[in-house]
Amino acid sequence: MARIPIIIDTDTAQDDCVTILLGLLDPAADLRAITMVAGNVGFDQQVANAHLTLNVAGRLGEVPVHVGCRQPVLREWSSAEDVHGDGSGGLAMDVTGVHNASEHAVDALLRLTAEAPGELNIIAIGPLTNLAVATVMDRTFPSRVKSLSIMGGSNNGRGNITPSAEFNFYVDPEAAQIVLDAGFPDVRIVPWDPVTLNDATFARPQYDRLCALGTPLARFFQRMCDATIDYDESVGVDGSTHPDSLTLAQLLHPELVLASAAYRVDVETTSPLTRGMSTMAWDKFGLAPNATVVEKVDAAAFYGILEAMLSRQTTPVRPISGMN
Ligand code: RIB
Ligand code: CA
Repeated sequence: MARIPIIIDTDTAQDDCVTILLGLLDPAADLRAITMVAGNVGFDQQVANAHLTLNVAGRLGEVPVHVGCRQPVLREWSSAEDVHGDGSGGLAMDVTGVHNASEHAVDALLRLTAEAPGELNIIAIGPLTNLAVATVMDRTFPSRVKSLSIMGGSNNGRGNITPSAEFNFYVDPEAAQIVLDAGFPDVRIVPWDPVTLNDATFARPQYDRLCALGTPLARFFQRMCDATIDYDESVGVDGSTHPDSLTLAQLLHPELVLASAAYRVDVETTSPLTRGMSTMAWDKFGLAPNATVVEKVDAAAFYGILEAMLSRQTTPVRPISGMN
């Protein structure tokens, strides 16, 4: 089976780390590059989290990490450190000699898609700042991207950082709207509500089973995700949330998707009350669709994909302190 070439654009913490692991270790994935965008936690910590994730998979230095936009297009950066801590779970490694790619993430997105037009699939699991800037710099960029899978918004449902807005669209709503208007040929969206809450949230017993798999990956998973499940349960979400890795998994394993539909998706950019809120107009409204929104996935099969991945025996390239 030909592997699927992907670029992961990420604000690396918690579920982003799990997504990078899936991109490195799933047999269907061919991870070509990681591009970093301002989002979850402090930018330099996100970059460190990305290298730490490569390391635990035994792949440190094998996938280029490109530093991207350190703040949203217009807005001040909004942190999710209350949700994730610093996203490292207290893990650390010697970073001597660990280098980021010298090329900016936006330049890398433009170059890689120019070198392989129509071949690369972008997995956008943070605010869409890098993708928006790439689009403004080169209006032909969207046409060169085979597919764009976005974790963002809610499908006429609850937000998470505010009652109406999901975090990725909230942090940079202008970037989200630029991307949604850009004409990417194949856009898939995995929203927070309902599909993450219904089908990509692992209740405590399921979560504990993943943590107990006895591999370095499982111990890493637990250290990365413990802070977030504690937060989630404190705000009434019944478990460990994994929208980002689902956003990649639905591309690698399309049989996971049990229901999806074409929608016109737009993001609120003017109202302080509903900043970042996504409106997802279904066919009733007769608007030209700009995305396929995932509505339901096979939760058990998705869990099984992550369980199989975390069961893999890997040897970290460098020792990781705090893992035991
Ligand atoms: O709202 C969920 C998104 O915000 C995910 O990408 C997760 O990483 C959090 O940052
Ligand atoms: Ca993310």
